[in-house]
Amino acid sequence: MTSRASSSTAYSEASGKLNNVDLYAVIGNPVAHSSSPLIHAAFARQTGQGMRYEAILAPEDAFAANVESFAQRGGKGLNVTVPFKLEACKLAHRLTERAEAAQAVNTLAFGHDGILGDNTDGAGLVGDIASNLQFPLQAARILLMGAGGAARGALLPLLQQRPRMLTIVNRTRSRANELQERFCSYGAVMSCDYADLQGQQFDLVINSTSASLKGELPPALPPGIFARGALAYDMMYGIGLTPFLQFAQEQGAARFVNGLGMLVEQAAESFFVWRGIRPKTAPVIEMLRSRTT
Ligand code: ATR
Repeated sequence: MTSRASSSTAYSEASGKLNNVDLYAVIGNPVAHSSSPLIHAAFARQTGQGMRYEAILAPEDAFAANVESFAQRGGKGLNVTVPFKLEACKLAHRLTERAEAAQAVNTLAFGHDGILGDNTDGAGLVGDIASNLQFPLQAARILLMGAGGAARGALLPLLQQRPRMLTIVNRTRSRANELQERFCSYGAVMSCDYADLQGQQFDLVINSTSASLKGELPPALPPGIFARGALAYDMMYGIGLTPFLQFAQEQGAARFVNGLGMLVEQAAESFFVWRGIRPKTAPVIEMLRSRTT
């Protein structure tokens, strides 16, 4: 199964605090495939935090009602996944800058002053690329494929790394243009069609399209697109190389990496938002990798 790196037991107690543990969950539809419960359980063990983390399958028309009943049970925080990230953004009382920019929320934190909405997906991407992979983003020529929700979440954290240029390419040009306009005040960003890529080279090519989720191939990139030492990064992960990463390998990308590290990094960032502690991600990435290879 191919999944995307972004941000899962029935719970019937009246309070979110059971035996001094705080209650968290991932909410989505579907949600059974989510690795978030596994990841957060590993983080909690590693850091000695008293947490319980569940999965909530919410009917598509009952996100708000499920969040409300979770809060009433004393729940402290939620990870939000497909298809509720936009709704979570509207439901939050306050948004972080990165959630505001993304217009999507994957992390909710319940406090005395209301519900904070955050988006840790882009920070997870940058953390994986810059820290885990030790790939320098500053002054890099970046190509971002796709202009949907996943791209929107990535743009601000990527631009904050000061790349030389971030080029957004999308099948539907108007969506790429909209993102370019929305994010141009944060850094050097432009938009283009796939046909405009002929003759261009990039140090980092990120696939944020949902093509492989649907069993489709994203449009082929022209030969020579990968600069020397280039990294091809797919936000998707699954068993084996994704179609995009296979393509990148054939086209001579120096490194090709799937989104498993991003998945764990975005979870770590959510954990930090909730608990104020940064768990070590390497052992958790290793654990998940051993399950997908
Ligand atoms: P998400 O929130 O997962 O990003 P989305 O907002 O529906 O989902 O965006 C999906 C992105 O993948 C879009 O950029 C979409 O291109 P369009 O805007 O042209 O629809 C892109 N995408 C999906 N399937 C694709 C395909 N087969 N080839 C190219 N791009 C594709």
